[in-house]
Amino acid sequence: MPAPSADALKRQAAAVALEAVAPGMRLGLGTGSTAAHFVDLLGEKVKAGLDVLCVPTSERTRAQAQALGVPLATLEEAPELDLAVDGADEFDAQLRLIKGGGGALLREKIVAAAAKRFIVITDESKKVATLGAFPLPVEIDVFGAKATRLHVERAAKDLGLSGTVAPRLKPDGHVFVTDGGHLILDCAFGAIADPEALALRLSAIPGVFEHGLFIGLTTAVVVAGRDGVETLGRLDPA
Ligand code: 5RP
Repeated sequence: MPAPSADALKRQAAAVALEAVAPGMRLGLGTGSTAAHFVDLLGEKVKAGLDVLCVPTSERTRAQAQALGVPLATLEEAPELDLAVDGADEFDAQLRLIKGGGGALLREKIVAAAAKRFIVITDESKKVATLGAFPLPVEIDVFGAKATRLHVERAAKDLGLSGTVAPRLKPDGHVFVTDGGHLILDCAFGAIADPEALALRLSAIPGVFEHGLFIGLTTAVVVAGRDGVETLGRLDPA
């Protein structure tokens, strides 16, 4: 039998996370190709009668969920969530993540932090021994972007990190702008030995809205691989 594609693995992980959804829940919906599988499967359940209320983390996810008839709310309307489900660009054994490859990290982090449980769905290619092979996204204000970039470079240098810190561009060469109207700096630092220290330094920089290090937020990572689906952490409520 041929090995399952990365996309098939993402859908398997999404299906496992769907088992954690119960009627009446308020859910956070992530962004990206893996989260899109979850939204798709959730849409099927909603069509079959499941009652949930969902807060999307991006306009892209909002449009997908809306088209599937998934009941939506803003985080203003539903500020406390039972569960958020999202993808990741990298995760390590301590359930620390790099997120933001899809440019939605600020809203993703706000939604994850508003949820009692945060389940991350991934295929096995996202597992790393040390975070940082994926360039770390940092969401910044347009105002003073160059000054903020210098601060980010200095903070990284203080921690022994170097590498390109570059504003994200779209494939057409124009600058990428987030749903909230912000810029993303993609920071190619390589291995981040102390993610907690870097997170603290980045959070202290004026002009930085959020960074893509998700630390202490994840309840479980569902990893789909060629040998089956593995769950790190707890899927069920503690
Ligand atoms: C978006 C994200 C995504 O969850 C991350 O980029 C993973 O995406 P995909 O599921 O397409 O691999 O953080 O900001």
